[in-house]
Amino acid sequence: MRQFTEDTLTDAVVARLKNAEDPRFRQIMTSAVKHLHAFAREVQLTEEEWFEGIRFLTSVGQKCDDKRQEFILLSDILGLSMMIVALNHKSVPGATEATVLGPFFAHGAKEYEYGADLREGASLKGEDVYVSGRVLSLDGKPVPNALLDICQAKADGIYDVQTDSGFELRGRVKANAKGEYAFKSYKPKFYSVPVDGPVGELIRATGNHHMRPAHMHAIVSAPGYQPVITHVFVEGDPYLDGDAVFAVKDSLIGKYRKVEDAAEAKRLGMPNPFLRLDWDFRLAPDAGVKARKVIAPSDAIA
Ligand code: BEZ
Ligand code: FE
Repeated sequence: MRQFTEDTLTDAVVARLKNAEDPRFRQIMTSAVKHLHAFAREVQLTEEEWFEGIRFLTSVGQKCDDKRQEFILLSDILGLSMMIVALNHKSVPGATEATVLGPFFAHGAKEYEYGADLREGASLKGEDVYVSGRVLSLDGKPVPNALLDICQAKADGIYDVQTDSGFELRGRVKANAKGEYAFKSYKPKFYSVPVDGPVGELIRATGNHHMRPAHMHAIVSAPGYQPVITHVFVEGDPYLDGDAVFAVKDSLIGKYRKVEDAAEAKRLGMPNPFLRLDWDFRLAPDAGVKARKVIAPSDAIA
């Protein structure tokens, strides 16, 4: 076969996939080719525009290293990451909803017991908060021995892994046998996604802002339950309705209450006054559902 036109080329490329051994690979590539060709036809893509796309994707790749994952960031701001979450992790009624993981997860954070102080060694201070609650099953029973992998940005909106500071405001907090967990941290603040690379260039070209509403990340897991990759957002945050990565869910917005009680502050080892977030996580039973992949930027580097 030769002499293809804009009307016959797509079928010709798809036909060349027919010998691919893996049927899923064939299905994905067939669809990708069809959509790519349809996209080029729909916008009547010029050579200059095609090359601008090549230049852009090249710079996205060049920006990646074992700490920076510009492709994940691109997927996040295009809403693709949340689309993948929605397709693969449908909300189970009553269970804590899943949301974006983002490009700043790190494996191997320190393990902490009940009451841990994640502020230890933090290079910047913030508003002190005591976070506590339970990990529950869908019928409200305590889930024993859950693990909560927690992280959040520092007060300057930068994650520890974006610098060489070592882990900060990050830790794997063990819940107790009664499903209870507690830790001390700082109230999260809204921050900008990284905009010093090609994805920043793209966001600026859209005329949109590049902010994420304040949140802490939590990956909650326990034997016999589906792990959940989630956030707890901060009630009242100005960016809840315009999250740059489309990750806000109403069920994930938490209230940070001010506590002014010297005895309570002393009992919990907090300054007076302090903030308190009471937050329960609810896990669905493990029904053989494939667990979501928890990816750190270094995982994508061969
Ligand atoms: C984050 O929450 O850490 C994040 C998510 C998506 C893009 C950038 C940051
Ligand atoms: Fe974040």
